[in-house]
Amino acid sequence: MDRTQLTTSADLTREEVDFFMEEAETLRGNNTDDLKGRVVATLFLEPSTRTRLSFEAAAHRVGASVITIADPKTSSVSKGETLADTIRVIEKYADIIVMRHPTAGSAAEAVEYTKKPFLNAGDGPNQHPTQSLLDIYTIKRECGGIDGKTIAFIGDLKYGRTVHSLTYILTLYSPDKIIFISPDELKVPEKYTQMLREKGINFEETSDLNAKMPEIDVIYMTRIQRERFESDAEYNKLKGSYILTPEVVKLGRESLRILHPLPRVDEITPAVDEMPQSACFRQAENGVYMRMALLKNLAKNFYS
Ligand code: NCD
Repeated sequence: MDRTQLTTSADLTREEVDFFMEEAETLRGNNTDDLKGRVVATLFLEPSTRTRLSFEAAAHRVGASVITIADPKTSSVSKGETLADTIRVIEKYADIIVMRHPTAGSAAEAVEYTKKPFLNAGDGPNQHPTQSLLDIYTIKRECGGIDGKTIAFIGDLKYGRTVHSLTYILTLYSPDKIIFISPDELKVPEKYTQMLREKGINFEETSDLNAKMPEIDVIYMTRIQRERFESDAEYNKLKGSYILTPEVVKLGRESLRILHPLPRVDEITPAVDEMPQSACFRQAENGVYMRMALLKNLAKNFYS
């Protein structure tokens, strides 16, 4: 494994994903000083709670220190600075760059300007590869494996970058089936269904959640991505499309596990949190260990 940058899940190999999952498991609860003296820059030009704070927690837990931009309004990007200039400067300050940006393709653009370790923490509606690594790690821990499982993505499959990234990673394994459940307006982009067809992964698309509940092993619930809609009227038409209540969850198997990258709005009622099926908060915790694994190894590959 010689990777130093991660912009998309599309170029991850099975060996890499398995390696990062093993590393995350080893680092679980075990802080290290592997990155002692290193500086991680977290450049977040879109809102975030979990991704930024879990990256920063992970950086501290592998011994690095952190510099951050948490709000684009406080950075020179709001003065019209180009991404190229921003990245060229930050790479002079920091040893590792973590970036979230509102534009699809911005992570691929950023790595044109730096060779240093770089992690895409979400580029608009496009990709969120570190989330998908913590998601696959969570599925493995919760269900004992990925092969043979039926995984259902529910909600905003059009704009949900976590859905797009995890779909790529699932093709490295042998799930029984992927079910995409969404309103017609929010279907997963054809690029992804086309890719599944090419790779011979069984999938279906439907809008009927209740009918599918009995056959699902893993639900990947998502928020309707309000910030990506052209108008509030369009968002209001689709908000509340799917809501997981205890009644809906009981239509499924007892072994069902429910994941959600968070934040949630109304798509999972709080009463579901008390059910053993809910894995969302364990999933958030797994994010710290996965990001420790990523920071540690990308830096190791570049600096040694
Ligand atoms: C997701 C994101 O930012 O894409 N959140 C996260 O990183 N945990 C999902 C979302 O915002 O709905």
